[in-house]
Amino acid sequence: MERLDVRPGGAYVDATLGGGGHSAEILRRAGPSGRLLGIDRDEAALERAARRLAPLPGEKVFVHGNHGDLGRIADENGFGEVDGVLIDTGVSSDQLDTAERGFSFRNDGPLDMRMDPSCGETAADLIARLDAADLADIFRKYGEEPRAGHVAGAIVKARDLAPVTTTDQLADIVSRSLGGPGRSRGHHPATRVFQALRMAVNGELEALQQALEAAIARLRPGGRLAVITFESLSDRIVKQCFAAHAGREVSLQQGGSRWEGALPRLERLDRHAVAPSKAETAANPRARSAKLRAVKKPAEGTVPAAGA
Ligand SMILES: C[S@@+](CC[C@H](N)C(=O)[O-])C[C@H]1O[C@@H](n2cnc3c(N)ncnc32)[C@H](O)[C@@H]1O
Repeated sequence: MERLDVRPGGAYVDATLGGGGHSAEILRRAGPSGRLLGIDRDEAALERAARRLAPLPGEKVFVHGNHGDLGRIADENGFGEVDGVLIDTGVSSDQLDTAERGFSFRNDGPLDMRMDPSCGETAADLIARLDAADLADIFRKYGEEPRAGHVAGAIVKARDLAPVTTTDQLADIVSRSLGGPGRSRGHHPATRVFQALRMAVNGELEALQQALEAAIARLRPGGRLAVITFESLSDRIVKQCFAAHAGREVSLQQGGSRWEGALPRLERLDRHAVAPSKAETAANPRARSAKLRAVKKPAEGTVPAAGA
């Protein structure tokens, strides 16, 4: 909330509405003349959050959609220029803890993993359809799994005997192929493979990339964008995007310097990503890998135009 600097009467987009926790606070701070656009791919989450937020002040618009389409959704709903955008990436605790959604190797359920269960292929569909090389590619690209080829081979062998349709089945195949729980210090051995499949099923990195640029393009002067990520691949995308828009001063031969970067020019609010405090991690262990990065579009007249 501090990084978003929510102001009374402002217009805000919560691109990952989830349980509506952040949005509730945005609405309280923006007050009766504030406006909020809440987006989520998960219709059940959207309905729950809409009920929770109904008693709070301000105008609320809820849209079931992918924040990869943030630009179109914002424009269609009268949020073409906003004071702040929040993106709190990944899955919610609700999704993780509901066995039927198939996100977790801790709860046995169907191998689904779609944040929007109304469309697209499930993780089980991907596992049934792709060959070993394509599965290995996913585990490498989205899970940074060092033994991607080996795990993919084990899955293909197992699915020839029986279709892989549950989270327990997959966790078991991956664990056995990687030599059991003892081999991956502190982590369940299937952590990387589950993360990779979830990201592939939901096109998470692609959606994030599009959401960032659409959000930046819609910030008013003085407006802010805050992004929370939970794994290094998403954090890298945010960091690189913010670095490009923050740009750098390049020294000129004839003296002086010139700013170079992606437009619009932005100001990073922190030198490094903000991590949760020990107290926060103790109260909410799922926050332990969170990283928050935020940028601000400078107020008009405070920054020279590029090349000036
Ligand atoms: C970590 S939770 C957000 C929690 C929320 N900030 C709160 O206070 O309760 C992430 C939410 O974003 C949604 N989500 C993830 N990727 C999305 C996308 N590309 N488009 C829309 N919603 C997405 C998920 O369905 C999930 O409900």
